[in-house]
Amino acid sequence: MKIFLETFGCQMNEYDSELIRSILRSHEHTFVEQLEQAEVALLNTCAIRENAHERIYHRLDDLKGRKRRQKNLVVGVLGCMAQNLRQELAEHAPIVDIVAGPDSYKRLPLLIDAASGKGEKGFDFSLSEYETYSDIAPQRQPGVNAWIAIMRGCDNFCTFCVVPYTRGRERSREPQNIVAEVHRITAEGFKQVTLLGQNVNSYRHEQSDFADLMESVAAVPGIRRVRFTSPHPKDFPRKLLRAMAANPKLCKHIHLPLQSGSDSVLDRMNRTYTKQEFLDLVDEIRAIMPEVSLTTDIICGFCGETDADFADTLEVVRRVEFDSAFMFKYSQRQQTIAERKFADDVPEAIKTQRLMQLIDVQREISRQRNVNEVGKVYEVLVEEPSKKNSREWLGRTDHYKGVVFFDEAAQPGDFVSVRINAAGTNTLRGTVERQSRRRLPVMASPVNCCGP
Ligand code: 5AD
Ligand code: SF4
Repeated sequence: MKIFLETFGCQMNEYDSELIRSILRSHEHTFVEQLEQAEVALLNTCAIRENAHERIYHRLDDLKGRKRRQKNLVVGVLGCMAQNLRQELAEHAPIVDIVAGPDSYKRLPLLIDAASGKGEKGFDFSLSEYETYSDIAPQRQPGVNAWIAIMRGCDNFCTFCVVPYTRGRERSREPQNIVAEVHRITAEGFKQVTLLGQNVNSYRHEQSDFADLMESVAAVPGIRRVRFTSPHPKDFPRKLLRAMAANPKLCKHIHLPLQSGSDSVLDRMNRTYTKQEFLDLVDEIRAIMPEVSLTTDIICGFCGETDADFADTLEVVRRVEFDSAFMFKYSQRQQTIAERKFADDVPEAIKTQRLMQLIDVQREISRQRNVNEVGKVYEVLVEEPSKKNSREWLGRTDHYKGVVFFDEAAQPGDFVSVRINAAGTNTLRGTVERQSRRRLPVMASPVNCCGP
C-alpha cells in the first residue's frame, strides 16, 4: 500500500519513523511524499506539551475531510500521543483506524492489513520491558548526521513529564549492536552520529556504561563526530567528561536540561538536584572543557512557581550563560504525577510574561556568547544550503554552533575551516580559510540490511 508518514516532536520520534519505514518497506509497502497519493496516512505523534497535541488534533481534522472523499483511506495514530490518549482516540476520533504506541511498531503490518482488508480497527498500546528494535535497520534519509537510539523509555518520573508513561521503562541496547549500526551508517556516508536516549546517564549493558559506549562509537573508522542527547544533571557521569575532554571525536557540547533554578520547584519536579549542585556541575564541566558549549531546557510557570522561584531561574541562567536554550510554558499532561499531586495554579498570563522575560534574557546571552566567537577559526561540518540564501551553506562547529558561509566548492559532509567574522543570536557568519579545506570521500552506496 502507499503510505504517507508524518512525524511530530523530538529526534527520538524522527528515529522511530525511520524504524517504521524500514518495518513497512520489508512488508512491501511504499512511501509517498504527498497525502493526496496515500492509501494509508500515519501520524507519528508527540505528547510532551499541549501545543504538540493541538497540532495533531488539527491534522486529524484535516484527515476527517479527506476521509469523507476517500472512504477507504486508513488513518493511524502512532507514538506517544497514541499511548497517552488511547481511550480518547479510540472513542472520540472515529476516523482513526489504527492506534499504536512506541513499542508496537512491529505489529503495524498486521494492523494495516486488517484495517485495509477487512475494515477492522486495530489498537495496540502494550509497553514492553524488552523492545529496543535492535534487529531493525532504520531507513534513513541521506544526510550528514545519523540518529541512533541507544536506549528507550525513562524511569526518572519528573513530575511534569509524560514520557515515562508513553515510552515505558528504561532498557538499553547491546553496545555491539549499536557499534554495528555505526559501521553501517559510515558505509552510507554519514560523518556524524548522535546517540539518543531520554536519559543517557542511565545507559548500561552488562559491564558497559555510557562513557564506554561513546568511546566504542568514536573508535569506528569513518565516524568523525559523536554527539548525544540528553543527560540528566543529577548524576552526570564524570567518566564521560574525562572521555569528552580527551577524545577529539566526542563533540564539546552538552545539552543539560535545567528545568528550573529554584530549589523548591526542582523538588516538586522531582529533579533530585539543587540549584547549587547544578551550578557546581557546570563549573566542573567548564574546568575540564573550557571550550564546551552548554544548552538547556527550561520550564516557566510550573505548579506553585512564585516570582522568587522564577527570579532564581533567571539568576542561574545569567550565571551559567547557556549558549542557547529551549524555553517552555508548563503545560499539564494527563497521567503525570504533577497532574495528580499539584494544582496548575500559575495563571496563563504570568506563564507567558515569565517566558517572554526569560527569552529576552537568554537571547542577549546567546548573542553575547556568539559575539565572543568572532575572530576564531573553526572546523565546520557542512550540513545543507542556508535557509535564507541557498547560495550559502549552513554548517556546525564541534561545539554545535551554526555557521553560515559562502563556498562554491563545498558540499554537505565536507569539513571546512571557517573564520568567524559576524555573530547573531542564533548563528555565526564566516569566511572560508582557503588553504585548510579538507574533504573526505563520501561513500554513496546505501546499505539496507537488518542488524546482526
Ligand atoms: N510542560 C512544559 N514543558 C515540558 N517539557 C516536558 N514536559 C513538559 C510539560 N509538561 C519540556 C522539558 C523537557 C523538554 C523535552 O520538554 O523542558 O526537557
Ligand atoms: Fe521526562 Fe524527566 Fe525522563 Fe526527561 S528525565 S524524559 S524530563 S521524566
